[in-house]
Amino acid sequence: MKTFNSIFFGFILVVFLTLQSCQQPSGNTAGSEYMPDMAHSIAYESNYYNYYYNNTWGGADEYYKYAQPRTPVSGTIARGGYNQDVAQKTVPYYYGNTEEERTRATNELINSPVKITDAGLKHGKELYNTFCGICHGEKADGGGYLVRDDGGKYPVQPAILNSAEFKAASNGRYYHAIMHGKNLMGAYKDKINFEERWQVIHYIRSLHAKEDGQVYNQYENTLNDYDEPAGEIAIIADDMMHDAHEGEHHGESHDDSGHGHDHDDAGHDDDTHEDSHEGH
Ligand code: HEC
Repeated sequence: MKTFNSIFFGFILVVFLTLQSCQQPSGNTAGSEYMPDMAHSIAYESNYYNYYYNNTWGGADEYYKYAQPRTPVSGTIARGGYNQDVAQKTVPYYYGNTEEERTRATNELINSPVKITDAGLKHGKELYNTFCGICHGEKADGGGYLVRDDGGKYPVQPAILNSAEFKAASNGRYYHAIMHGKNLMGAYKDKINFEERWQVIHYIRSLHAKEDGQVYNQYENTLNDYDEPAGEIAIIADDMMHDAHEGEHHGESHDDSGHGHDHDDAGHDDDTHEDSHEGH
């Protein structure tokens, strides 16, 4: 009898708990749920911290961490911004093809988002001579061969990019010209990508520097304060490229010989190069 009693009461208890755990909420009761963790997802509110707000199994510290702003998805570009990793492909340009927009770009796009590198200047030179020099001249003097031949097969004089006006012109004026062209000059945005456009602009600046006896390269820029030299970091990458060529390794304390040979394009001499190294 005793055993029967305890089995009976045990059975009653199980039935009671089962019913109890499924109690539905109604007018006067909140109801009760058995292990509701799957029923209510822990939907974190971004930038909002209140541990008790959520039904969470984690600790307060853990929840605090999740309530913090998340890191953006990799490759995210802020409006008008630039992300080194995806810059090869596309970067939105928010200036239309009108004279007002040209003026706006000229006034607003001041600093180069791409740093000056010797590799970039070298590539910029190739691109400039291919796409721009034919009209604007390899020296940026407005005397490209399309203009020179036979006293000018090309109907108009291209802008003289080494004139005082264009030496003083902002980066935006150049960038906008590449994106949309101007009158008889077509757009070049489909020919050269974001980074390359800036490399072309840097190369034009390096021509200015050469003429004006200034230094403009990966290590130093005495021409202006809106194009930033990339400095030492890129040298290491550059060295690695040379290493592959020359089969010799430059460590941290590399000497100049490894990467001196393609520097002449950028219009500086090796002395200034040495000097700028001392500082790093
Ligand atoms: C087919 C010839 C031709 C080519 C190639 C060419 N341009 Fe031009 N460019 C012109 C002409 C012509 C003008 C003058 C347009 C005007 O003012 O009417 C001009 C004007 C400009 C201007 C001045 C825009 C302004 O604000 O007044 C810049 C900067 C410029 N070009 C840069 C470039 C760059 C960089 C390239 C290479 C990506 C290039 N051009 C390729 C013919 C050319």
